[in-house]
Amino acid sequence: MLQRLIIILLTVASMAIADTPEKVILDTDSGPFNDDGVALVMLLQSPSKVSLQGITVVPGNVWPAQGAEYMLAHTVMMHRTGLPVFIGAAEPLLHTAAIAAAAAKKFGKQNYLGAFAEQPALTRADLKKPFYGFSGLEPRKQNAVDFIIDTIERNPGEITILAIGPMTNLAIALRLRPGIETKIKRLVFMGGAAHVDGNTTAAAEFNFWFDPEAARIVLRSKIPVKIMFGLDICNHTLLRKSLFDQIVATKTPVTKLYEEDFGRDGFPGFLTNPAATAHLWDELAAGYLIDPSFVTKSEQVYLDVDTSFSADYGRVVPLDRGLAPEATPVKVMLELNVERAYELYKELLMRPVK
Ligand code: RIB
Ligand code: CA
Repeated sequence: MLQRLIIILLTVASMAIADTPEKVILDTDSGPFNDDGVALVMLLQSPSKVSLQGITVVPGNVWPAQGAEYMLAHTVMMHRTGLPVFIGAAEPLLHTAAIAAAAAKKFGKQNYLGAFAEQPALTRADLKKPFYGFSGLEPRKQNAVDFIIDTIERNPGEITILAIGPMTNLAIALRLRPGIETKIKRLVFMGGAAHVDGNTTAAAEFNFWFDPEAARIVLRSKIPVKIMFGLDICNHTLLRKSLFDQIVATKTPVTKLYEEDFGRDGFPGFLTNPAATAHLWDELAAGYLIDPSFVTKSEQVYLDVDTSFSADYGRVVPLDRGLAPEATPVKVMLELNVERAYELYKELLMRPVK
């Protein structure tokens, strides 16, 4: 009798835990909408799975003052103006536009420069008006790095970091307070290319290329669980106009912004070039927090990042474990049920905004 009661209590307790939304910090390099904005929408449309604690902005696609305003504008669109947005690092750890230009001369042009194409760094005052207008909100005064540290310290073992830009903020947080490494529940990130070519150079994926030193610090860390959505898995999810058309056929504030950004004004510009393609990147990492079952194959490996000034800058390489004996492995996502991922993407984008 007592045994049955214990089993019932344990089952009820585990159901309660399973039903508790995961506490997540979104670390993002933003953009007018693009995949970072879609990832945010997916999280906010899944309150039973994800409890978003805050948005931290890092340089990458755009400079952080712009990125923060875009994210604030998205919180207005999603009726979530209380959600705090923090600005962190102003620059990558070492990489600069000048280094990128020197590398381009020596090793060949990069496909995409992100914020490095805008030098000196753009400020909020330079910002092109967001689709729904300026947010009228301010980022929090606290630095993003301090917010990350404080939130992890206050919730040991409970915080998931979803990193969908370069890893500068996270690397600085780990260097400022190494003790938080083992207090992070898990890191889910979009970045890197383990077995396939890069998308910015032949060697490197954009987030890892923009700040390879930061990615190296994070991959060598003791964060207990590291889950990588790199180009290995993202390359399977082509974004074509047919999918875009299905999404924009439903009219919501989100799909109208999506139509503008993915169709007219931004990348990939489906309405001016119907043959254009892109990939799901950050959206896959976000989708994993909502329904991980779309991933069908992964591998567990120890990884590092090449930081030499060479054609390999930002390349994912095997870790020499003698250099970081306490580093934990990375779960590299490799294959997925593509249709299931598209369904999740579509459904969350088209869902009415409450
Ligand atoms: O390589 C894809 C990554 O770089 C994504 O995070 C996307 O936002 C781009 O800038
Ligand atoms: Ca991104």
